[in-house]
Amino acid sequence: MTTSSTSSTALPPVAFIGGGNMASAVIGGLIRQGMPASDIIVVEPHEAARAALLANFGITALPEAGSTLQRAALVVWAVKPQTFKDAAAAAAAHTRGALHLSVAAGITTGSIAAWLGTARLVRAMPNTPALVGKGMTGLYARPEVDADGKALIASVMGSTGQLLWVDEEEKLDAVTALSGSGPAYVFLFLEAMIQAGLDMGLTAEQAHQLAVATFQGGSELAARSSESPEVLRQRVTSKGGTTHAAITHMQEQKLPEHFIAAMRQAETRAKELAAEFGR
Ligand SMILES: NC(=O)c1ccc[n+]([C@@H]2O[C@H](COP(=O)([O-])OP(=O)(O)OC[C@H]3O[C@@H](n4cnc5c(N)ncnc54)[C@H](OP(=O)(O)O)[C@@H]3O)[C@@H](O)[C@H]2O)c1
Repeated sequence: MTTSSTSSTALPPVAFIGGGNMASAVIGGLIRQGMPASDIIVVEPHEAARAALLANFGITALPEAGSTLQRAALVVWAVKPQTFKDAAAAAAAHTRGALHLSVAAGITTGSIAAWLGTARLVRAMPNTPALVGKGMTGLYARPEVDADGKALIASVMGSTGQLLWVDEEEKLDAVTALSGSGPAYVFLFLEAMIQAGLDMGLTAEQAHQLAVATFQGGSELAARSSESPEVLRQRVTSKGGTTHAAITHMQEQKLPEHFIAAMRQAETRAKELAAEFGR
């Protein structure tokens, strides 16, 4: 596995099939990098979503797939897993010469390659902090994708945050369980910390600020430190102190074990979705 974060200079035209949340996160990054809206082609059936693309990015999206898609060197598939196969049937004839990037959860590159008639394909698992340029995306490239193709995709997805390439497709199930679903785990912990703050007499605003800043600060410290999270935790946990009281309770309640088991459930679900939607 390797990590990278890349910014682009001049990119070729990029098409998006589906113009919802995830497409908008990537498009926002491309526009911020200076890519002209005229080089971004979007197919989006919903009028309201097309209006948002026009208002936010100056992009006139197409209501359905057509020959304009042939301009794109890269096609980003940002539709829901259950609509991918139909979307592929509508657009495949116009996109055969392009490199493809799927951000759809669960669907394997084997299924997608069969639907599109090409295996020049990268599968990515982004997460929602991509909306604020702080995303974490895991990527797997089929062997048919060359170094230039990977570099192009790194330029496009790098605008949404950090990238991590994995060398086996099934590791994307672990990426899904960790960083793909992970923002929801953070939000759940934030909810609990805020509730505890309220119970202890803080206002909602105070509890929110304290909890969110603590997650940001703790993450930043872990990112910059050469020490493991375990060592960082031990350093702030003096025996008999307040942190020790809380951590001891969490460990007695087997919170880490429950958390790990929960993430394995997410991994299992990722594999089930692949079997369900890949047919
Ligand atoms: N949001 C996340 O946190 C996240 C994280 C990782 C991966 N992903 C993946 O990203 C993909 C997109 O998610 P999203 O949250 O961006 O979904 P979204 O906001 O629902 O956007 C998808 C858009 O594509 C439209 N669409 C449906 N069929 C189409 C077709 N044939 N051609 C073109 N567009 C079509 C959808 O319309 P309808 O509503 O009518 O279907 C919708 O407006 C999903 O596969 C998801 O698994 C999302």
